[in-house]
Amino acid sequence: MSSQANLEHLWMPFSANRGFKAEPRLMNEAKGMYFFKPDGTQVLDGTAGLWCCNAGHGHEKIVTAIQDQAAKLDFAPSFQMGHPLGFEAAEKLLSIAPSDAFQYVFFTNSGSEAVDTALKIALGYQQHRGKIDKTILVGRDRAYHGVGFGGISVGGLPLNKKHFSLLSNVDHICATHDLGKNAFSKGQPDFGEELADDLLRIIEKHGADKIAAFITEPLAGSTGVLIPPKGYLERIREICTEHDILLIFDEVITGFGRLGTPFAADYFGVEPDMITCAKGLTSGTVPMGAVMVKQEIYSAFQDRDPKAIDLFHGYTYSAHPMAAAALIATLDVYREDGLFEHANERSSYWENALHSLKGTDPIIDIRNLGLVAGIEMEPSDGKPGARGYDVFTDAFHNHDLLLRITGDTIALSPPLIAEKEHIDQIVDILRKIIPNH
Ligand SMILES: Cc1ncc(COP(=O)(O)O)c(C=O)c1O
Repeated sequence: MSSQANLEHLWMPFSANRGFKAEPRLMNEAKGMYFFKPDGTQVLDGTAGLWCCNAGHGHEKIVTAIQDQAAKLDFAPSFQMGHPLGFEAAEKLLSIAPSDAFQYVFFTNSGSEAVDTALKIALGYQQHRGKIDKTILVGRDRAYHGVGFGGISVGGLPLNKKHFSLLSNVDHICATHDLGKNAFSKGQPDFGEELADDLLRIIEKHGADKIAAFITEPLAGSTGVLIPPKGYLERIREICTEHDILLIFDEVITGFGRLGTPFAADYFGVEPDMITCAKGLTSGTVPMGAVMVKQEIYSAFQDRDPKAIDLFHGYTYSAHPMAAAALIATLDVYREDGLFEHANERSSYWENALHSLKGTDPIIDIRNLGLVAGIEMEPSDGKPGARGYDVFTDAFHNHDLLLRITGDTIALSPPLIAEKEHIDQIVDILRKIIPNH
């Protein structure tokens, strides 16, 4: 991969294509905590790829399961047909669900598809139970729910919506991020529980009988690591229950041990009605997403002739054999290697190491939970995002560290196998480079 022409034809997602092609950042191999550049240079993975490689890279058990499955059954049609592993994968996923109330899984190929699937299920559910006016979907400002038309509509990122037509029956509550009150909080911030009551404003505006569902990331990652204030999610749950509104947790990045528990729902002790997940579901090895739903939601769709299709929705590759094999092996690895517990044990070391950067100019906030951290830097004059981009490229090109940047916030989420020395290495590099930008 050397000539400019070879790089030209791929239109890269969420990328500055011309900037990348002028100064490429390529990975060629990966193992454990590291990627390797094409010249063999080792790059420390500070982001589990893109919040997904929770088991670390190239885990032998997962690799073998995928290889074996590819040789055994490459594909089986997913509509009106199945293959045993797909059903086993659903059961396996439910075995780590927050409670027995979750009884069904709908498989997709990505987090975006999982979100759009969950929104459709929510709307269909309300119709099936006769609540025909419950057609409004509510999201939150500064939320990211992928890039489907449903996901960008309930999401709260203006640039992701610009140029595109959106779903009309959508509204948003306010975001929770408050630097003035909560900067440099360790773990969940103290202030902001009452912001959950913004959902009451939306309920008053439209009427509870018009609202189908509220979707939220329990901890927002892609929009800059926004940690829910203490009591906030509990209050959201209360309001949704009181007003008969479905609560969907988008756990695409928080699922599978990121907070030291199977799901964020477990960590916060708040149970939603549906959970979307992806990424860590297969440790990033094979594209796959899923929606876990409670019994009563599935049951509501079973009111017709058993020979009639119950949900007019699905993907050619739902429960693809290789993804199903990857899911089963990955969940085994999480359990056998104790990775959720490992993440939990490492989280206080992680917190202290990251917060040791406090006082480093131009850092204006450090926030963390589980094995996630956000380091927010003051934007350079008139150029929001420029400082973040410079730190990101400097870290990769000159210090062999992979970071993730949202605007001027560095988002960190290493594989769950991270040891203290990896954490030290990440923090040492950041201490060195942040003041230079
Ligand atoms: C909370 C959340 N939902 C949905 C998505 C979209 O997932 P995908 O990129 O697999 O479509 C993401 C991706 O980062 C996410 O963080």
